[in-house]
Amino acid sequence: MPELARKDVLGLETMSRQEIELVLHTADSMREVLDRPITKVPALRGRTVLMMFYEPSTRTLASFNLACKNMSADTVSVSKSSSSLVKGESLRDTIQNLESMGADAVVMRHPSAGAPHYIARNIEGSVLNAGDGAHEHPTQGLLDLFTIEQHKGSLEGLKVAIVGDILHSRVARSNIWGLSTMGADVTICGPSTLIPPYVTEIGCTVTHDVREAVTDADVIYVLRIQLERQEGSMFPGAREYRRLFTIDAERISLASPDALLMHPGPMNRGVEITTDVADGAQSVILEQVPNGVAVRMALLYLLLGGGE
Ligand code: NCD
Repeated sequence: MPELARKDVLGLETMSRQEIELVLHTADSMREVLDRPITKVPALRGRTVLMMFYEPSTRTLASFNLACKNMSADTVSVSKSSSSLVKGESLRDTIQNLESMGADAVVMRHPSAGAPHYIARNIEGSVLNAGDGAHEHPTQGLLDLFTIEQHKGSLEGLKVAIVGDILHSRVARSNIWGLSTMGADVTICGPSTLIPPYVTEIGCTVTHDVREAVTDADVIYVLRIQLERQEGSMFPGAREYRRLFTIDAERISLASPDALLMHPGPMNRGVEITTDVADGAQSVILEQVPNGVAVRMALLYLLLGGGE
C-alpha cells in the first residue's frame, strides 16, 4: 500500500485530492478491520505515539487512543497540567525530550493556532493536528468526508450546508477546505458576526437564511456555538439563535429526502439542533464516531509506514 508522501497531517488546506483519496481508501480497509470480532492488527507494533492534549477532548482523544491500540502502537499521554510546561519548560523542549525517548509520532491538540505546525518543524517524527485553536481539525474533516462518501459514493457536486458558528470552528475550516478540494458545493449559514470573510474568497455561498441554506441540501452539517471562544457579544443569545438557525424537523424537511445530518459533537441539544433531529433517521452522527477511529488508523498507518 502506498505511503502518504508527507511527514505530518496539519490541515486540509494543504492536502491534495489525491492525498485525501488515499486516506479515504485506506480508511475503507480499516473499517473492515473494525467490523471483525477482533479489531487488533499488528501493523504498528513497536511504534510509540505521544498524545499531547492541551485542551479538553472526549471523542478525539478516545478515538486516537483506540486507533493506536487497534494498530498495536504504544501510547504515552501528556496533559498540560501534569507536564513540565507548568515548571516553565517550553513546548518545544518538552516534545524534543519526549521524542528522544523514542516517540515516533505526536498527536497534538492545542488552544493556539499553529502550535502543531511549530512542533512539526522542530521534530523528526510525524505530527498529527488534533485541533489547533480555531484553525484546523484535519482528522475530523477527513472522517466527515469519509462518512459522506460512504453514503453518497462521491463528494463531487454534492450540496453541503454548514450551519452554525463558522468563525470559531476548526471543524468548519477543515471541512470547507476538504469539501471544496473534493468538488462539493459548500453553503455557509450562521449569524453574520460568526462568518469569516475567507469563505466567499474560496468560493462558498453565504446566506443568513437557514431555510435557503438547507433547501435541496445533500448534507446538513451542524456546528456548536463555541461560547468558550467568543469575545464580546458576537452571539445573538440562545433564544434568538434558536429562532433563526436551529436545525429542526421542519427545516430538515426542506433538504433532499435522503440528506444526511451531521454534527462533530459535542452537541448542545435544543440550541443548534433539536433532539428529534439529532436522533432521527437522517442522522449519521453516531457513524461519524467509529469512522473517526478508522480514519485515524489509516493516517497513522500511512504516516508511520505500517508495512515495514
Ligand atoms: C470539535 C472540536 O473540538 O473542535 N469537537 C470534536 O473534536 N469532535 C467541535 C467542538 O468543540 O464544537
